[in-house]
Amino acid sequence: MADAACRYRSGLRHWHPLLPSRRLGRRPRRQLLCGQALVLFRTASGQAAALAEVCPHRRMSLAAGTVRGEQLLCAYHGWRFAADGSISCPLMPAVALQQQAFQVREADGLIWVRRPGKSEQPHEAPPLPSWPRGDLLPAGLTLHTVAAPLEVTLDNFTETEHTTTIHQVFGFRDPAAVTLRLELEPASTRVWNSGPQKAFPRLFDAFIDIRPHDHFANDWTTRFDPPLTVFEQTWQTQGRGGWRRRRFRLRVVVFFLPLSDTTTQLTTLLYTPRVLPGPLHGWLAAPIARAIMAYELRLDVKALAQLADLNPDLCARTLGPFDRVLLENRRRLQMIYLGTE
Ligand code: FES
Ligand SMILES: [Fe+2]
Repeated sequence: MADAACRYRSGLRHWHPLLPSRRLGRRPRRQLLCGQALVLFRTASGQAAALAEVCPHRRMSLAAGTVRGEQLLCAYHGWRFAADGSISCPLMPAVALQQQAFQVREADGLIWVRRPGKSEQPHEAPPLPSWPRGDLLPAGLTLHTVAAPLEVTLDNFTETEHTTTIHQVFGFRDPAAVTLRLELEPASTRVWNSGPQKAFPRLFDAFIDIRPHDHFANDWTTRFDPPLTVFEQTWQTQGRGGWRRRRFRLRVVVFFLPLSDTTTQLTTLLYTPRVLPGPLHGWLAAPIARAIMAYELRLDVKALAQLADLNPDLCARTLGPFDRVLLENRRRLQMIYLGTE
């Protein structure tokens, strides 16, 4: 059921990368987004579609239905739903009925969903979010579900103080030795952290040239249309000629999707340089990089699940120097993501 009281409802007007395209076949799927229960399905011609989940007739979940040709058949009495939401009832062929339909696009291996604006025609949809692609290669995408509200989840990803304690590979040895710089723009925040890399297991030394005594720099920008952070992570080593940039680097793009008031989805895209020649890179290096990233993200998910208080209100918190950006992000989240249309 749609949750009209969900405090993220207004965010639905932004594009959200909800699901990898490969996960949507002919079988309809139930999916929450901003408290809205959706049914996603793919028609016989391959078009992905998203409708409000509940059949207006007698409230059957359309996720129990079946795709026939270009329509989704309700499992209860067989009313038929097209991708644009038009309903045909075999017993009332002359009656025009409409189910709420959502805009859907497929790009970058993802299914993107948004609610059309109130006065908007479907073709007027804004462009999908973009982020730097550069010279790096895509190493895949991961989804994680966090048992915490959007703000609390975003807070976790917008400070790196916790990387010393929570993470295993990517992070700083000692937060006291980390340089912090903030760049605040009306629609985005940029944080730059730099300091000694923490010790980490050296299983992949053969093709990743970062070492425990390197200098780690994490430069990340957060936007709010929808909430997404692009992390640019680089390493430097000190040699006789001074500091030299390592060849290996990472770009991690994390989208924060509120599914409900208390649950947030992370849709994460990972990019790396080529580290192995030819197809070996795709077969071996990319899956390993993706597995390490998924593991690190699970550590974030686990930490968030252990919070004793999920109230997003920051007023009663004792904040440290790394937390300044949290307040800035909250303001922009409110104004840009949740602000009125
Ligand atoms: S409940 Fe869907 S057709 Fe009757
Ligand atoms: Fe983290």
